[in-house]
Parts: sequence; C-alpha cells; structure tokens
Amino acid sequence: PSAGEAVALAKTAAAACASFEELTAAVAAFTACPLRHGARNTVFADGIADARLLVIGEAPGRDEDSIGKPFVGRAGQLLDRMLAAIGRSRTENTLISNVVYWRPPGNRAPTQVEIEICRPFVERLIALTKPRAIVLAGGVPMQALLGTAGIMRSRGQWRDLELETGERFAALPIFHPAFLLRQPEQKRLAWQDMLSLAARLRDD
Ligand code: URA
Repeated sequence: PSAGEAVALAKTAAAACASFEELTAAVAAFTACPLRHGARNTVFADGIADARLLVIGEAPGRDEDSIGKPFVGRAGQLLDRMLAAIGRSRTENTLISNVVYWRPPGNRAPTQVEIEICRPFVERLIALTKPRAIVLAGGVPMQALLGTAGIMRSRGQWRDLELETGERFAALPIFHPAFLLRQPEQKRLAWQDMLSLAARLRDD
C-alpha cells in the first residue's frame, strides 16, 4: 500500500478496537507498515494496561526486536531504574510503549511516514487506557505527539497532548534514557523530571 493507504488502514484497524487486548492483536496483525518487513517481532506495549502512567519511547532496538517487548535493553534497564526511584514499575503500575512497533533497520530513527502509519494505534492506546500522565521519552515521541522540536528546552515542562478525537492528556517530555547513558551528567535534570512526575501522579 502507499503511505496514505497504510495510514487509512491503520485508522480503520485502530478504530475497531474496544480494548487494550484487541488493540494488541490488531497491531500484531497489521502488515502495512514497511518497517515490519525488516523486523523479527512486533513490539507493542509492556506493563499494566489500566495504569495511571504511560511511557512512550521512540522505537524498538535490537534487544526489543529479539524479545518482542519495549525497553528491555540497556536504555530500558535505566528507564526501569528511573521509574523504580519514584515507585513505578511495569509489573505494578506503569505501561510502556513506543511511537513505532517494529525496529528500524540499523537502529536509524523512524521516518515521518513510519510514525504517521503507527500513529492511529498510538492514539487509540492513549484513548483506551486514559493515563493520568504520559511520559514522552526523547525528542522523537515529543515531536510526534506534541508537534514541537527541541528536547533540551522542553524537557520537564508539562504539556497538553491532544488526540485527533479532541481528548487531552497531560504529557511530560523527558530525556531519552539512551541519551542519559551517553551523557550521565544530564541525570540531574532527569531526576527533577521524575520528581515532577511523582508529584503529578500523587496529586490527582
Ligand atoms: N528505545 C526506545 O525508544 N524504545 C525502546 O523500546 C527501546 C529503546
């Protein structure tokens, strides 16, 4: 299918899903994203479907592609430690996903078209799980879902994430954990963001 046709197929498939389980099955059955053909596994979401916290990252890497779960490599382990520091985990109270569900070849960044094709599923995931807070891990999900660039400036600032349906959710851009592995001196700012997240989740 063309990119436009693939987006239309994704919209139809996502709109038909009435639950997280149906959405998981629909993503697994979706063949119109070109990334799929170079990937070993579909990597959709991991954690607690009705959690108050949803973390959205960029794309599966090598470890995620071979295991079929998001954020299981080194960056994922750091993410798990950051969440644990504020009492959050994918086994108890957090859901983790990405803006695309198949590994881009050679770990390149996902393209605009690949993001647009997966986007109806991302939006449906948010609409179905209705998280109280959405963490956008890195510039790619921030750009994709808030339409703004510049993670260095925007991290730590709560924003309204508006779906195509008009529903609004509170979203917090943070540094991607892979960036923190490369620049550990930035962890101080990341810690401030985690405290802001903890406060938001506590207050409402
Ligand atoms: N980085 C991401 O953005 N997502 C993953 O699932 C793993 C690493």
